[in-house]
Amino acid sequence: MKFLATAILAAAATAVSSVAALNPIEVKGNAFFDSVTGERFYIRGVDYQPPDANGDTADPLKDYDVCSRDVPYLKNLGLNTIRVYHVDNSADHSECMQLLEDNDIYLVLDVATADQSISRDYPMYSYNYVLAQHNFATIDVFQNYTNLLAFVAANEVVNDVNSTNTATVLKAVIRDMRAYIKAMDYRSIPVGYAAADVEENRYQLAHYLNCGDEDTRAEFFAINDYSWCGSSSFSVSGYSTKVKNFSNYSLPIFFSEFGCNLVQPRPFTEVASIYSTQMSSVFSGGLVYEYVQEVNDYGLVNVTAGSDEVTVLTDYNNLKAMLAKTDDPSGTGNYKTSNKASECPDYVAGLWEASNTLPDLPEEASAYMTDGAGTPLGTDGPSNQWTPANSDDGDASLTGSQSAGTSSARSGSSSAGSSSAIATTTGGSSSSSSASSAASSAATSSSAANANLGHAQSAVSFAMPAAAVVVCFIFGLAVF
Ligand SMILES: *[C@@H]1O[C@H](CO)[C@@H](O)[C@H](O)[C@H]1NC(C)=O
Ligand SMILES: *[C@@H]1O[C@H](CO)[C@@H](O)[C@H](O)[C@H]1NC(C)=O
Ligand SMILES: *[C@@H]1O[C@H](CO)[C@@H](O)[C@H](O)[C@H]1NC(C)=O
Ligand SMILES: *[C@@H]1O[C@H](CO)[C@@H](O)[C@H](O)[C@H]1NC(C)=O
Ligand SMILES: *[C@@H]1O[C@H](CO)[C@@H](O)[C@H](O)[C@H]1NC(C)=O
Repeated sequence: MKFLATAILAAAATAVSSVAALNPIEVKGNAFFDSVTGERFYIRGVDYQPPDANGDTADPLKDYDVCSRDVPYLKNLGLNTIRVYHVDNSADHSECMQLLEDNDIYLVLDVATADQSISRDYPMYSYNYVLAQHNFATIDVFQNYTNLLAFVAANEVVNDVNSTNTATVLKAVIRDMRAYIKAMDYRSIPVGYAAADVEENRYQLAHYLNCGDEDTRAEFFAINDYSWCGSSSFSVSGYSTKVKNFSNYSLPIFFSEFGCNLVQPRPFTEVASIYSTQMSSVFSGGLVYEYVQEVNDYGLVNVTAGSDEVTVLTDYNNLKAMLAKTDDPSGTGNYKTSNKASECPDYVAGLWEASNTLPDLPEEASAYMTDGAGTPLGTDGPSNQWTPANSDDGDASLTGSQSAGTSSARSGSSSAGSSSAIATTTGGSSSSSSASSAASSAATSSSAANANLGHAQSAVSFAMPAAAVVVCFIFGLAVF
């Protein structure tokens, strides 16, 4: 029976094989549009990061056995987008990207990896040429696929009231990625951020990423949101307040993760709200966390890692049914073009500590803007994760760059970023500040804790055996 279903799905998936490429998606006002047909585009998606045969995080788009196993099930859900959190930029993705395209599926891609990402503990130290090269090379590798919808510069770097200083580096990274896309004359590809659902600083962060000079702003703001549990409602979940509070926001907003699992199986009744005119003037859809079942229990399907067997779970069928009976709003869904960029939020010690003066692109990275980023070095390439403790080690050029990073922070801003890097130099354990991060999220907001849980586990499944996952969650490993 299962075999039969698989065969039918596979046939359906290949039969769609398209003549024309998917049209690039563009941002207009606070919404996404098909750049050719001019139709509004709502993200209907799932987060897709199946682990490898060892249970470790792997690049699913470099392995045709993996993507060709899953794409029929993704297609059959009735979605149009997947989000992938982790790829190896040195790998060949052409077969999987073509298969996605043949099945009308766009990709929202996170550029960060475990070893190449903004550090929550040492944000300014992690802002260096290694990170720039990694991010730019990932752009090089994916920009030419027309079904590449957007780049996520980072996920949940700011995850509580105590990590808002990292937003300074986040915003610099977004600015640099945008500048690189422009410098290379690539098509316009939106660059933005996927935020943890933190009550205390949600609006400061959103407005911070949308304030100041045009070329420093994000091009979308996405939220990992677990506030609608079971058969909640537009008002009880708090969706209504978010729509209201973001009603004058000028960028597209979508849920980069949704699907609270406190009530199981998940009925996904929020789908009817997300794709309704109650939300479409502000929100542009979202992605359900997550395709494959892991220990954190958010899966739509069971997959035995390394096998080609996929078992559909009740959540899969529920989501499929909700998507099938929920059309997008007609017309343009009352999107807005008249909203203005935001005012930069005020610095409030202990609550909002990002600087409105961004550090300059590290000097060692400036040549990438003219010469390109060069060879993608992959997940086994150099890490950008320097700390005060290791910054004097090894490669002299790394040490040089790292100090350039810090000094530009010092001169470039007042600066929450650099002072934090300096302030934490005495912290021997890099987990100390993140541990408080996780604790504070859990203490202040149950939905944030839930979001964190979902994400933290997907993050740490990178290199850790499952048994270490819980420990790492507690210590809030700050890899993204
Ligand atoms: C980009 O894609 C087009 C077709 O979609 C192809 O002809 C072209 O060679 C690609 N360019 C690069 C630099 O990969
Ligand atoms: C919406 O904004 C108001 C202030 O404008 C704030 O008090 C409230 O907490 C916000 N609601 C949510 C759900 O973020
Ligand atoms: C999915 O996997 C989980 C954990 O291995 C197992 O408990 C459950 O029975 C599986 N469900 C199905 C429908 O195979
Ligand atoms: C949006 O509205 C909120 C309060 O309703 C206000 O604080 C904020 O400044 C407004 N933003 C813009 C860009 O108008
Ligand atoms: C934030 O950091 C301060 C100072 O390090 C600490 O006293 C406070 O408890 C932290 N707050 C949270 C919510 O973790």
